[in-house]
This record gives sequence, structure tokens and C-alpha cells, in this order.
Amino acid sequence: MPSNDTIGKTLAVSVGVCVVCSILVATSAVGLRERQMINERNDVNQNILAAAGFSADELDGNPRKIDRLFKEMIERKVVDLDTGEILADVDPDSIDDAQAARNSKQSKAISGGEDIAGIKRRPNRRLVYLFRQDGQLKRIILPVYGKGLWSTLYGFLALAPDGQTIESLSFYKHAETPGLGGEIDNPRWKAQWVGKKPFDENGEPVIAVIKGSVDPDGPNASRQIDGISGATLTGRGVMNLVRYWLSDEGYGPALDKLRVSGN
Ligand SMILES: Cc1cc2nc3c(=O)[nH]c(=O)nc-3n(C[C@H](O)[C@H](O)[C@H](O)COP(=O)(O)O)c2cc1C
Repeated sequence: MPSNDTIGKTLAVSVGVCVVCSILVATSAVGLRERQMINERNDVNQNILAAAGFSADELDGNPRKIDRLFKEMIERKVVDLDTGEILADVDPDSIDDAQAARNSKQSKAISGGEDIAGIKRRPNRRLVYLFRQDGQLKRIILPVYGKGLWSTLYGFLALAPDGQTIESLSFYKHAETPGLGGEIDNPRWKAQWVGKKPFDENGEPVIAVIKGSVDPDGPNASRQIDGISGATLTGRGVMNLVRYWLSDEGYGPALDKLRVSGN
């Protein structure tokens, strides 16, 4: 009887196992891609609902409930960031930030000094989200992003209908260090943003994450947030991205229209 103990047969079995395993991995990666995208979308929608004020209990992580609530309660609007116009005839599903950032007609380069959020290019059109109750505008929810220390931070800034008062700031994706920059997810830190007035009397965004603690009796307390100790750089990144997206380069012109008309 021929021996199985040969180099050729050992190699043939190894190659066979490798081929079978790679087919299995490739098939599941392709097969699960759509599910992953649905889950990612669901996670983002859950964060938008949280920015609108829905509690974790109300959402209870149930994908169907999140999907239903999102469709019922949240209006998506496409805005032209240069003019601030709301583009009612543009399909919200056509907005793709990643694609826009690669296309020089759909985004614009930001020069070094102006690029305080560290994003290099800014899409010309973006989606914003409106939450109404009984027909009344309750929150304007702005997707924001920018560089922290190690990563780009993605989140939502919710404003009151006056467009001048912060209702919440939260991030759903970043890779800052847990316990240091990762403290931007700490509910106690996030709670400080509620009620803050990000603009000065000239309408410039001046909200600041300071080093140390805010003096509650100080003249600028309503525009300041405590720094995170050991994470000054992440805190600065958060401050800069919020300022950028609230500026005339970001949602400034759109906010003027949204807060006046409540479109
Ligand atoms: C392993 C390691 C991870 C760090 N992660 C962060 C971070 O996520 N965010 C941050 O701002 N600083 C981080 N730092 C600290 C920064 O290098 C820097 O020292 C700090 O931002 C300065 O803040 P401080 O003045 O409050 O100490 C990290 C440092 C080390 C050694």
C-alpha cells in the first residue's frame, strides 16, 4: 500500500484546506456585507434618534423599532452648504460623503489654516435631520466630523430650534484611547454640552473646551466645557470640529435659513 506520509500529499492536503477555508471566508464576507451595512445604518439612525432626545429605553436596541421611529419622526433635508439652501428636489439617498470627498465637483478643498477640523475636503451638500413634534420643530441635528488625536471623530450635534443652543453632542465612531480621549463618550462629559451657547454676539462659533474646569460664575461659562485631563488633544479636536461645522464654512448659512423658517 502506498504511503500517505509524503511531502506531496502533505502539501496537497494543506493547499486543499487553505482553498476551502478561503472560499468559506470570502463567501461569508460577501454574503454578510449587506447585513453589515444595514447594521451600520441602523446604528447611525439610533444615534440620530438619541440626538433627537429619545432615551435608550425607548429605543431598546430593537432594529425594527429604530427603523420605524426613524422613518416616522425624523425628516432628512439636503442642504447646500455654500448657499444654505434646502434642496427639496434632491433625493437624500443620493448624498454620499465619502464619494463627494473624492470628487472635486462635489466637494471643495479647505486650505491649511481654515481646516481646523482637519478634514481636508468639505462636501458641498450634506444631510441634516429635523425632529418635529405636533408639527413644531424641536431639534436640528447636524452630522459633524473631524480629527481627534488618533482618529476622525464622527457624531451628531443637536441644536434647539433657535439654532443657538446646544441640546446634545455625541460621537458614534472614533478610535481615541479608552479612558483618555475615549472619555468624550462619558455621559458626565457629554452632559456639559446641554444648554451651551456656542456663538458670540457676532454669530462666530466660540464654544471652547478649556484646560481644567469651567468657572460657573465666569463671564464665558455658557460657552465653555471642562477639558478632559490627559486628553487635551482630543478635547481640542472636538472643540475645533464643532466650531468648524457651526461656522459659515459649515452649516452657518443653512442654520440661518432653518432657524428662521423652520423648513
Ligand atoms: C498610550 C497613550 C494614549 C494617549 N491617548 C490620548 C488620547 O486618546 N487623547 C489625547 O488627547 N491624548 C492622549 N494621550 C496623551 C497625549 O499624548 C497628550 O499628552 C495629552 O493629550 C496632553 O493632555 P494633558 O495636557 O491633559 O495631559 C495619550 C498618551 C499615551 C501615552
